[in-house]
Amino acid sequence: MVLFVSKSLAPLALIATCSSVLAASSNCVELLIPVTAHANNTKFNTVRVDSNVDAVEFTLSRDRWDALTIAEISEGNIAVGGDFEISGHFCIPSTPRNGQNTLLIASHGVGFTKGLWDPTYRPDDLSFVKAALAQGYAVLAYDRLGAGLSSLPDAYDYLQVPLQGEVLRALTERALNGTIVTASERTGGSSSITDYTAQNVVHVGHSYGSIVTNWFLARYGSLSAGAILTGFLIDNQFANLKVEIADLSYAPEHNPALFANRTSGYLAFGSITAFQADSFKKETLDPNVLTYWDENIQSSLGVGEVLTLGTGVGDVVANFTGPLQIFVGENDFAFCAGQCTGIFDLTQLHGLYPNVKDLNVYLQPQTGHVVQLSLNATAGYQVIFGFLSKNGL
Ligand SMILES: *[C@@H]1O[C@H](CO)[C@@H](O)[C@H](O)[C@H]1NC(C)=O
Ligand SMILES: *[C@@H]1O[C@H](CO)[C@@H](O)[C@H](O)[C@H]1NC(C)=O
Ligand SMILES: *[C@@H]1O[C@H](CO)[C@@H](O)[C@H](O)[C@H]1NC(C)=O
Ligand SMILES: *[C@@H]1O[C@H](CO)[C@@H](O)[C@H](O)[C@H]1NC(C)=O
Ligand SMILES: *[C@@H]1O[C@H](CO)[C@@H](O)[C@H](O)[C@H]1NC(C)=O
Repeated sequence: MVLFVSKSLAPLALIATCSSVLAASSNCVELLIPVTAHANNTKFNTVRVDSNVDAVEFTLSRDRWDALTIAEISEGNIAVGGDFEISGHFCIPSTPRNGQNTLLIASHGVGFTKGLWDPTYRPDDLSFVKAALAQGYAVLAYDRLGAGLSSLPDAYDYLQVPLQGEVLRALTERALNGTIVTASERTGGSSSITDYTAQNVVHVGHSYGSIVTNWFLARYGSLSAGAILTGFLIDNQFANLKVEIADLSYAPEHNPALFANRTSGYLAFGSITAFQADSFKKETLDPNVLTYWDENIQSSLGVGEVLTLGTGVGDVVANFTGPLQIFVGENDFAFCAGQCTGIFDLTQLHGLYPNVKDLNVYLQPQTGHVVQLSLNATAGYQVIFGFLSKNGL
């Protein structure tokens, strides 16, 4: 069944790839960006995951280990960090919006590469990058640590929210101080992009990438001119997040070809079915997207990411004064248990983001967790750009 679907999709995907390479090649460059990042992560009391059997045990035991960690948190800090390489897909518009270099830095969720933001399948309907360029924004979509072509550090101690947030800080500083292109190794794309300095950086996240962005805003809010958190909502259902639905497996055993260089603690979604359950509402799902993800833009996640899903969520974000939009599928399963209407409290949100210039929660109709790959995505992007525009960005 899966084989049949993938065979029938192959020619389609190939055609889409060719046309989008033509369309985008003149204004995108692939970068390996050097970053130095250090953070205080948490030493978790967790068993190792070295097989699919261990991965199931880990999922089922997660609550128990979380409880242990909370009890021991004061002695659980661990200093981590070093030099890393971050793989970036960097695109600039032909005409900058408002004559300004406004850069959107996009952080993906678990189970993805940066390709989430610029799929070659149905780019006119799904690509956030393409839609943003048309509006005059530059975009840096990057593989977070432990995903795609970026560095693959220890999956327990390193792949956690604080270190990922420090990487986002380093990328932001490089964009603002003009070294994002000049300090990087180019691995493909346009040779005409040789230098870039952002005047404003807007931070855009999806899911775990939104959790990381939220942590970053709480500490380094002054580096951000605006933020869009997609696949994210602080509500009365988030604590019930059902990790079981991802059917987590051990990455190198699940897909030996793709994940041969992953080591202990690296996980992957267990199946296309599990990915669907976590990500989509049928009304806005093109089933070919599932195969496209499987073959082109899926990646690994770490045990440490699963254990830090709540890190910083609900912290008061006092130093961020830009506009903030929370853009979530009305039927997001991960954050809303399938129905976001009526489960969040705007007064509470204003308390958590006391100094934002503008706060908006937008529910994208009939859409699940992965708004970027759902039908009607581009209409949603216009809502996001309208919000930024209203706030002068
Ligand atoms: C880690 O915590 C220590 C003690 O609070 C602090 O001095 C240090 O600056 C922190 N390191 C980082 C990278 O945040
Ligand atoms: C891991 O392996 C993949 C697939 O072979 C490769 O593309 C990637 O560059 C490797 N990553 C690292 C950090 O070596
Ligand atoms: C730019 O920012 C990066 C990341 O913080 C830093 O490593 C680098 O030294 C800075 N370069 C300049 C020229 O300020
Ligand atoms: C917010 O900014 C103020 C002034 O720059 C600083 O003293 C404070 O530590 C910052 N708060 C956080 C949570 O970083
Ligand atoms: C598509 O998205 C836009 C923007 O959120 C929304 O106004 C419109 O109602 C959506 N269309 C459908 C059919 O849900």
